Amino acid sequence: MDATRMAYAYTGKNKIAKFEGHYHGGFDQVLLSVNPPIDEAGPPHEPNAVIESSGVDSYHEEHTVILPFNDLEAAAEILSKRRDEIAAVVLEPVQGGFIPAEQSFMDGLRKVTEELDILLIFDEVKTGFRLGLGGAQSLYEIKPDITALGKVVGGGFPVGMVGGKKEVMMVSSPKASSDVFDSSQSLKSSAKDVLFHSGTYNGHPTILAAGLATIHRLEKEINNVFAITYQLKEGINKLFAKRGVAMKTIGLGSIFNIVITDQEKILNYRQLQQSNFHIRKEIDFRLLCEGIYTKPLNRYSLSTVHGEKEINRTLEAYDRVLSQLF
Ligand SMILES: Cc1ncc(COP(=O)(O)O)c(C=O)c1O
Repeated sequence: MDATRMAYAYTGKNKIAKFEGHYHGGFDQVLLSVNPPIDEAGPPHEPNAVIESSGVDSYHEEHTVILPFNDLEAAAEILSKRRDEIAAVVLEPVQGGFIPAEQSFMDGLRKVTEELDILLIFDEVKTGFRLGLGGAQSLYEIKPDITALGKVVGGGFPVGMVGGKKEVMMVSSPKASSDVFDSSQSLKSSAKDVLFHSGTYNGHPTILAAGLATIHRLEKEINNVFAITYQLKEGINKLFAKRGVAMKTIGLGSIFNIVITDQEKILNYRQLQQSNFHIRKEIDFRLLCEGIYTKPLNRYSLSTVHGEKEINRTLEAYDRVLSQLF
């Protein structure tokens, strides 16, 4: 929310562009086209803006522009047509935490947004610390203008953070002194000159201490988490392959998803919709009956508490579940 407001304040424009299938939180400007029904989603190269919640005003269908992910040509065409209206493009560098942007797409998007004077916002709420301590931006070697991070900064506790390039961040700085004790009225900036960014949940030191402790632990252990994730991925791949079932484990770092599909690549929301959700649900439910909870139809996110024991137990349960189904 603050990242969007910051982009509006910095550019003086009042529309945001987001990608179909990307989630950026429960506020109105971006609660569109996260999981749109295909029959409402419009053409793949120029998707419709589809509201995701009751109570979101249709105003946002006009003010949120939807882009196709991993399709640079189509995204660039929409952006250049509407460059005077669009303040920023926001994206999950890895859609839903598991469908990575292709490097050429990311390089191209950075170049196009710079050329069009549109800010680039990385929503690293899922990717921050799951792809590495530098997030997706260090992996892709791309500098966004604004970065948003979430609970990972608080070691899992509720917190949000927004940061970015100095010139953009300066929109939140009082233009002149707005110190309540400053008596020189002439120096005071009016409220609308400065980006408002206060709130009941802001600035909780205990949560930030938890975040710092998490970073220190991950500095030592992140590679173990990556290794154990790889072990689980490879184990699951082998169990499916043994039965000749086409599927993919998709993801980077400590997060991935199981997609039941024979498509060569899954690069966006539309392709993901063609996978077999029915079988995936069956697997999720049967794993649950085995005492293994995987969030239904959702990603697998590993952490420092997952070790050999948990991986082996999961793979044994998986083997039994797959032998019931195939
Ligand atoms: C990519 C991404 N952005 C933002 C959010 C924050 O959403 P909210 O503030 O509604 O919890 C999430 C939450 O999971 C997320 O995954």
